[in-house]
Amino acid sequence: MVEKVTKIGVLTSGGDSPGMNAAIRAVVRTGLYNDLKVYGVMRGYNGMIEDDIFEMNSRSVANIIQRGGTMLKTARSKDFFDPEGRKKAYENLHKRGINGLVIIGGDGSFTGAQKLSNEYGIACVGIPGTIDKDLYGTDFTIGFDTAVNTAIEAIDKIRDTADAHDRLFIVEVMGRHAGYIALHSGIGTGAENILIPEINTGLDEMLASLSEQEKRKKLVNLVVVAEGFRPDSNNHEIKGASEVARIVQQKVPGLETRVTILGHIQRGGAPTSIDRFIASRMGYHAVECLLEGRFNVMVGILNNNIEYTPFEIAIRQKQKVSEEWLRIVKILAS
Ligand code: F6P
Repeated sequence: MVEKVTKIGVLTSGGDSPGMNAAIRAVVRTGLYNDLKVYGVMRGYNGMIEDDIFEMNSRSVANIIQRGGTMLKTARSKDFFDPEGRKKAYENLHKRGINGLVIIGGDGSFTGAQKLSNEYGIACVGIPGTIDKDLYGTDFTIGFDTAVNTAIEAIDKIRDTADAHDRLFIVEVMGRHAGYIALHSGIGTGAENILIPEINTGLDEMLASLSEQEKRKKLVNLVVVAEGFRPDSNNHEIKGASEVARIVQQKVPGLETRVTILGHIQRGGAPTSIDRFIASRMGYHAVECLLEGRFNVMVGILNNNIEYTPFEIAIRQKQKVSEEWLRIVKILAS
C-alpha cells in the first residue's frame, strides 16, 4: 500500500444520486487545498479501464453543487469485475502516478475498490452515494433525502386525486433490495400501508386492513411499495406495485385501484440542503482520510459524527429496518 498519497482520482459509480456533484466538488477542492493533484475519472470504472481520465482544477467543479446527476457520469462496470479489466485500470492510474482514489457509490462500487486496493495497493476511500440508503455504517447516503422528498411531493399529489375519487392508490418507489425510500416517503405522506423487501409479512395484514377499510369507507387509501417487495418470497420474478395491485383486486374486488410507478424521477433533480451538506462533509473527510493514511474505508455520518467503516463491513452488513417504524405506520394511519 502507498506510503503517502500525492495524486488522487475521483469517480462516481453505480446508480447516480443527487448530491454526487457536491461530493465531487468537495473532494476536488479539498485535494487541491492540500496540494494534491486531482483527476476526474469518467463513467465510473469504465473510464478507468478506457483511460478517460483528466486533471481537474478548482474551476472544473464550479457551478455544480446545485445540480443532480454527476458531472463525471457513472456506470455499473461489468469489465471491472474481470481481473484483466482491473489490470488495465491500474495501468492507466499508474502511468499518471495516481495512488489514491475516492469512490462515490454504493456497495458494488466499494467491492470493486477493495479488489483494486488488494491487488494493486491503490489507497481507496468510499463515499456512500446511493438513493437507497442501504449501506451499513452511515445514517445517511448522498441522494436519499432528495429522493424521499421527490417521492413525497409526488405522493401528496396522488393523494389529492385518490381522495377525489375514493380510490386506492398503490405507489411504487425505488429500492431493489431496500425499503428505506418506501418507509420514509410512506410515513411522510401518511400511507396506510408500506411494503418493503426486508419484511415479508406486510401483505396479509394489508389485505385485512383494506377489507376493513372498505367496510368503514375510509376516504383515502395509499399504499407505498418498494420496487423490490415480493408477495411470494420464493418467487424472485414477481414483485412490485403491479403485482400487489393484482392480488388486491383478487382479494378485495370492490376496491377501485390504480397503480403509479414513480421510477427514475426519484434519482434526478437538485439535491436538498441535507444532501448538499452531507456530500460536502463526506467529500472533505474522504480526502482527509487519504492524507491521514486511512484506506479501504467508507466515510459515513453516524449521530452527526464522521465515522469510518471498513469496506468489508459496509458491504457485508446491512442496516436493520426498525419494526417499530412499521408499528408507527399502523397506529398513525388508523
Ligand atoms: O441506484 C439505486 C437504484 O435507483 C435502485 O433503487 C433501483 O433498483 C436501481 O438503482 C435501478 O437501476 P437502473 O437505473 O440501472 O435501472
